[in-house]
Amino acid sequence: MPRHPYLDGNFGPVHEEVTATELAVTGTLPAHLDGRYLRNGPNPIEVPDPDAYHWFMGTGMVHGLRLRDGKAEWYRNRWVRSGDVARKLGEPVRPGPTHGDMDFAPNTHVIGHAGRTLAIVEAGSRPYELTDDLDTVGPCDFDGTLPGGYTAHPKLDPVTGELHAMSYFWGWGDKVQYSVIGTDGRVRRTVDIDVNGPVMMHDFSLTEDHVVLYDLPVLFDLDKAMTGTLPYTWSDEYQARVGVMGRESDGSDVRWFDVEPCYVYHPLNAYDDGDRVVLDVVRHPKTFATRHNGPDEGVTTLDRWTVDLAAGKVIEERLHDRAQEFPRVDERVVSRPHRYGYTVGFELTDELQLSNVVMKHDLAKRTTETRAFGEDQRPAEMVFVPDSPDAGEDEGVLMGYVYDGDTDRSDLVVLDAGTLETVAAVHLPQRVPFGFHGSWVPTV
Ligand SMILES: [Fe+2]
Repeated sequence: MPRHPYLDGNFGPVHEEVTATELAVTGTLPAHLDGRYLRNGPNPIEVPDPDAYHWFMGTGMVHGLRLRDGKAEWYRNRWVRSGDVARKLGEPVRPGPTHGDMDFAPNTHVIGHAGRTLAIVEAGSRPYELTDDLDTVGPCDFDGTLPGGYTAHPKLDPVTGELHAMSYFWGWGDKVQYSVIGTDGRVRRTVDIDVNGPVMMHDFSLTEDHVVLYDLPVLFDLDKAMTGTLPYTWSDEYQARVGVMGRESDGSDVRWFDVEPCYVYHPLNAYDDGDRVVLDVVRHPKTFATRHNGPDEGVTTLDRWTVDLAAGKVIEERLHDRAQEFPRVDERVVSRPHRYGYTVGFELTDELQLSNVVMKHDLAKRTTETRAFGEDQRPAEMVFVPDSPDAGEDEGVLMGYVYDGDTDRSDLVVLDAGTLETVAAVHLPQRVPFGFHGSWVPTV
């Protein structure tokens, strides 16, 4: 098979589903951690056509661990059984409400909400529900309440417990859809919002009073769709802008503000500050301008966009200029003011961006601490878990997979969020391919 940057090394798939119990731990896992750390990512179930394959297209595979009483009880990795995946594995297709022809094994994020474990993805496909042990139940439309597809980046309001989302789908034309799922796990509200084209809207922001849309210049590309590759392309013509609307808006009064051309996959967090809305974002100078969205599209930076609702403009400011991605905050401050943010820093090679540090940004002091790892040790997105419900904003741990190129294995690494020092490392029986997003799902 020809060399491909996203099919080789630790971007390449693993081929076995493994169940391992009583895993070896170096250090001490905090005894209060009682739940599962889950992470989703692309893991093609068959060798794809390398000319068409893009990293974002691989079959979703969830890797998870069950932690309890200071022990790592199990590790499992499981493909998400969409209809196509079930057929390839020789299993019955799980019945359930797929969205038209958009039956895809979600590969981007995995969350827990209202008692369900959900593998999720954007662009028209529905979530797939998983069991606690990561077996696939079937596609989920929240008891018939979700009209279309969903997103990989819903936001859980930490006060109300409701799950807010912005979804897009090329088949909707120039519209995106805001939805709110209640604590009962049913969609209680959807709002269609007009945009200027068939945009790829990977994420959005939520504040206490507002919903923020990133209407940025990456558009559905029918020519690419016909060739079987990922059908989105950077546009030099499409006006980059941010939209702000009230949480209870019907979508007709969105205020739009132009920004410099760029792409934002991931905001870190957002909050209201009087007449301003503060958006901390990871800014890509471009994306989908090259075959693999490689380093030649420029360095990603952590930026602050302050939307001045009174003056009608956005002030763009650089917070940190080192290449970074996968921003996370303490989930208790989502949509409210935050002080700390955690990202993964990257070194750039000719074709790839390879992670090598975890960064902790103190946005009150405007300082950044960096935790380096060993040669060829590659950290991934870090999820914050507080020590207790009323612990301070950085009083807790960060957890995420770290791949070691020397051993070709991965660990679940637990860091002290205060100091970024390692608290514990759970040694896994195989490598976890580089992937996307994850969650700590506490036992309830
Ligand atoms: Fe994402």
